[in-house]
Amino acid sequence: MAAMPFIAGNWKMNGTLSSAKALAADLAARARASTLKLPRIALCPPAPLLAEVTTAIAGSPITLGAQDCHAKEKGAHTGDVSAWLLANMGCKFVIVGHSERRADHGETDSVVKAKAEAALAAGLTPIICVGETEAERNAGKAADVVRAQVAGSLPGQATAANVVIAYEPVWAIGTGRTPTPDDVKAMHAVVRQTYAQGRADSADLAILYGGSVKGSNAATLLAVQGVDGALVGGASLDAVDFWKIIEAAPKR
Ligand code: PGA
Repeated sequence: MAAMPFIAGNWKMNGTLSSAKALAADLAARARASTLKLPRIALCPPAPLLAEVTTAIAGSPITLGAQDCHAKEKGAHTGDVSAWLLANMGCKFVIVGHSERRADHGETDSVVKAKAEAALAAGLTPIICVGETEAERNAGKAADVVRAQVAGSLPGQATAANVVIAYEPVWAIGTGRTPTPDDVKAMHAVVRQTYAQGRADSADLAILYGGSVKGSNAATLLAVQGVDGALVGGASLDAVDFWKIIEAAPKR
């Protein structure tokens, strides 16, 4: 059985109170009015906008997610946000290990794993991000890098019911470049095989593709075998384009 399709919007460090409200309300109205079999949908705004977005999506099938969490439940960690507070704010998901966090904040696989464990303990589903850089791909190391990231970032208690993995080649993020469908298929297979070590439910695991997904290429990328959805950055800031991606999600 394949995972339920899932489209998540990562707003990154964008938006204001008013733009967040307008974007979330527009998407919520589309979701409420839709007669399609919708995928799971999550919006991941910057933490200070979570309350505004949760109000705007109330009564719609859209769920709330966050972009990062700390590994600890509480304490002296100025500027950080705990998974428990995110759950308390209404989040169902939290992105961990995004390549921008790995690059900007030096997050290692063990840090990402600790954050994913905190998410699980707080009742959130972590969306664990992995992906190779361009230099790693050119050196023929993409599969090895991603295998190591998955193995090092996945909590021991991960199951297909409580985690999501996003394969996001770093060189495709925000660049307008995407891997070929064959490369996406091969890398998703690497992720699934690595997850499957010691686990019996790998067929049910949701593996999202991320990196320059847009309305214009979503149908192609989302039709690739082993792709269960998308983690969308730039295009998730535009209601029309993001909705096109939602409509292109696999129907199952
Ligand atoms: P992008 O970002 O869609 O803007 O390439 C994807 C991501 O970083 O999650």
